[in-house]
Amino acid sequence: MRRYREFHRESIDRPEDFWRREAARIHWQTPFTEVLDRSNPPFARWFAGGRTNLCFNAVDRHLDTRAQQNALVYVSTETGIERRYTYADLHAEVNRMAAVMRSLGVQRGDRVLIYLPMIPEAVFAVLACARLGAIHSVVFGGFAAPSLAARIDDAKPTLLVSADAGARGGKVIDYTPLVDEAMARAEHAPPRVLLIDRQLAPERLNAPYLIDYEPLREQHYNAHVPCEWLESNEPSYVLYTSGTTGKPKGVQRDVGGYAVALAASMEYIFEGRAGDTMFTASDIGWVVGHSYIIYAPLLAGMTTVMYEGTPVRPDGGIWWRLVEQHRINLMFTAPTAIRVLKKQDPALLRSADLSSLRTLFLAGEPLDEPTAVWISDALGKPVVDNYWQTETGWPMLAIQRGVEALPQKVGSPGVPCYGYDLVLRNEHTGEPCAQGEKGVITLSYPLPPGCMQTVWGDDARFVKTYWESVPGQQVYSTFDWGVQDENGYVTILGRTDDVINVAGHRLGTREIEEAISSHAAVAEVAVVGVNDTVKGQAALAFVVLRDAGAAADPAAADKLAAALAATVDRQLGAIGRPARVHFVSMLPKTRSGKLLRRAIAALAEGRDPGDLPTIEDAAALQQIREAVEPTGKA
Ligand code: PRX
Repeated sequence: MRRYREFHRESIDRPEDFWRREAARIHWQTPFTEVLDRSNPPFARWFAGGRTNLCFNAVDRHLDTRAQQNALVYVSTETGIERRYTYADLHAEVNRMAAVMRSLGVQRGDRVLIYLPMIPEAVFAVLACARLGAIHSVVFGGFAAPSLAARIDDAKPTLLVSADAGARGGKVIDYTPLVDEAMARAEHAPPRVLLIDRQLAPERLNAPYLIDYEPLREQHYNAHVPCEWLESNEPSYVLYTSGTTGKPKGVQRDVGGYAVALAASMEYIFEGRAGDTMFTASDIGWVVGHSYIIYAPLLAGMTTVMYEGTPVRPDGGIWWRLVEQHRINLMFTAPTAIRVLKKQDPALLRSADLSSLRTLFLAGEPLDEPTAVWISDALGKPVVDNYWQTETGWPMLAIQRGVEALPQKVGSPGVPCYGYDLVLRNEHTGEPCAQGEKGVITLSYPLPPGCMQTVWGDDARFVKTYWESVPGQQVYSTFDWGVQDENGYVTILGRTDDVINVAGHRLGTREIEEAISSHAAVAEVAVVGVNDTVKGQAALAFVVLRDAGAAADPAAADKLAAALAATVDRQLGAIGRPARVHFVSMLPKTRSGKLLRRAIAALAEGRDPGDLPTIEDAAALQQIREAVEPTGKA
């Protein structure tokens, strides 16, 4: 058995030796000349000079040994559709999609924006881009038109791939009107939108830029598109994520480092083996979907289960029945989903045959103790919390059972994963924290393979945002608080910036504020996250109106609050909608005009906001207190 401590130590002390060995997990068309090019810190170029292709490694490479094994099992409880694709089928579908994209002008290095619901074509589109050497950028289907337009303008895609509609909880969401609005708003709208027509939308739009996929697929049915051999450090994708500003960052990832990191994580962290079946209940619009619905299971020769639907429809037993039916070995989701399932009849869980299941992985937000205890007792299987970010692409903290099954510690996702030189640092001095001292979770240079290369199109922003925020040190900041114990276990204590986490979805409070501010009645707004028993956090908005009288009576206030929620739906998407809107006449600010967000969040959770020597007018605090009092009006 490997020992965690030595394994981790080697990865930090001799990263070149460590990762050279791991690189053998994937096919290199041309071997790399250097394991790690450190010539330009904080940038790190892994496997420089090597040529490979993510699609080849995820699909083609398995054709010799597992062509008839299922690669992708698709289940939609929204449409009742279930499909299975063997590796041979997946290969054929990806070639068709790649040929169609190529016929529409997509070339190596071009961006393709993918705005799709959870349908198999989303996986084909991602892998087709990888095959062609095009850079995919998946935009979560829950984002509204202005958010989509902003991403279009940043990525400047050659092609957009979308569908007629998505569906959630039995409700059909028309996509074409959203796409149309985004196309009109964007300055860099692509000439064409490739449309997967699921025939779900009652009224699908017919714009001249829309081209139907199905006839083109027929045309290219027997196509074979060769894989482009990319240098390891060419970009594979851009995935937008929220930060402190209202402008989402395009997290850019490479090809070779990502492939190696994911393949290694499958063994060391997930204990997944070729032939296993993995069900990751997330969305392809998030990093968990990119890494553990699509790439990692396929790189490892596993079967991946893709699910469209909620965990409670038709009933709360659906996921457990999927485990039984598809003999699922590994499952991965967010704690919110488990908190939702906890409210369901436990008989639903017990009635399914879960004997195939080995481990449940949870990530994306803190795993609270009652939820952890409930689910591990109910399943009788190990539950593995793991901590990471869009930026890192794979776990930073976990009990790495494929290395050594260290004991779990309640409330902690575990110890630093191999490859990560993770150090907690004092926010003022930048010095390493003592054991038990709260600090910012940082990573020392170089970040291991698989982590973000840069911010798309903005190296300066990458350096400034991530590598210059800890005083006196050029280290990567996660923007998370944590505390580490004497055995190396880290507990996560929330974000240091204005990012909140609602039901495992990462949202910038600034983005929500900007959406609310676009309403004519609003003078000022502050959005903060507060604890929520199911969703982890909920967004609360405190709004100062231009005309204070506009929300004077409860009926008018309710109407206005609903109008503001609708504005967020339109501007950002329903996922950003605040749980509650409170009207106040002023917001707590410093004398220099900075919003005291942490104080607002503390008050909203009924905590003491602490000393605020710089506050301009303490009366504003009282207003927040009164607004959130249970008896106060919403
Ligand atoms: O604050 C941390 C929280 O989610 C953030 C990253 O979110 P995202 O970019 O969407 O990536 C999710 C990848 C799983 C982190 O900065 N977070 C993530 N995992 C955990 C967590 N907080 C506590 N415990 C976790 N296991």
